[in-house]
Amino acid sequence: MNHIINTREMSRQDIIDILDHAADVEEGDALAGKVLALLFFEPSTRTRMSFDTAMKRLGGRTVDMGSPDVSSITKGETLADTVRVVEGYADAIVLRHPQEGSARLATEFVDVPVINAGDGAGHHPTQTLLDLYTMRESHDASLGDLSVGIMGDLKYGRTVHSLAHALAKFDADVSFVSPPELRIPERVRFELQNEDFGFQEAESLDDVLGGLDVLYVTRIQKERFPDEQEYEEIAHSYRVTRETLEDADDDLVLMHPLPRVDEIAAEVDDVPQARYFGQAHNGVPVRMAVLDLVLGDQ
Ligand code: NCD
Repeated sequence: MNHIINTREMSRQDIIDILDHAADVEEGDALAGKVLALLFFEPSTRTRMSFDTAMKRLGGRTVDMGSPDVSSITKGETLADTVRVVEGYADAIVLRHPQEGSARLATEFVDVPVINAGDGAGHHPTQTLLDLYTMRESHDASLGDLSVGIMGDLKYGRTVHSLAHALAKFDADVSFVSPPELRIPERVRFELQNEDFGFQEAESLDDVLGGLDVLYVTRIQKERFPDEQEYEEIAHSYRVTRETLEDADDDLVLMHPLPRVDEIAAEVDDVPQARYFGQAHNGVPVRMAVLDLVLGDQ
């Protein structure tokens, strides 16, 4: 496996191979002597730290650019120049950048594998892999048999775009739930329709909640709104509480890529359906599997 840029270009089998490997990957020295560069041009807690942990658990090391504020970006360096330099320090690059298409662009300038850790409102493929891993872990069913509701900022949410494309590969039953302003963007809609993927859309969770196996909630991506006023008008427009879940099936699993703002009430954290912290922990085995497949000998 070389670059990991989006789930759209991964095959169903690629995805299954990574999930299967995540289930049996073991700590050790498989990546001893290898160095992974962490280039995060946007804030990150989970993605950066779980890649770091995953690499170290496999015996490898990481070099971290640190905050863009203290890197040469502030001097006007282009992404192309940065990755060309970093290629000389590391065996693979994990890149998060506010520009959609940035990870793909980076691949044009380097020979080492590039792993997209989020490109603007584009994609976040390794998040999707850990999401799918969590779904598989929670339900004794194949991904294609699941009924998944995806609620929130479907317009700017890159985790949503990657997840939708992956679920389309398995032909899962997908319902998108959002305020009208935050529906999935035309481009993603077009791509999914081109893949002959049928999905439902709703404005209210009540219309789809009964029968869902997974409810995947996302944060409104405040930082991507062109204007603050637009964000304020839509902020707090949906919220999952204990009461919301009263109408859900017993085996519903509630997921969220985190960070959460107020779209899931804290009172929900203790209900058995809440899976988001375990989901975040799954970032380590899943990214170990990804790194092993990208950088290991097999
Ligand atoms: C997500 C992201 O960066 O897209 N965070 C993450 O990696 N878990 C989701 C978000 O920021 O809302």
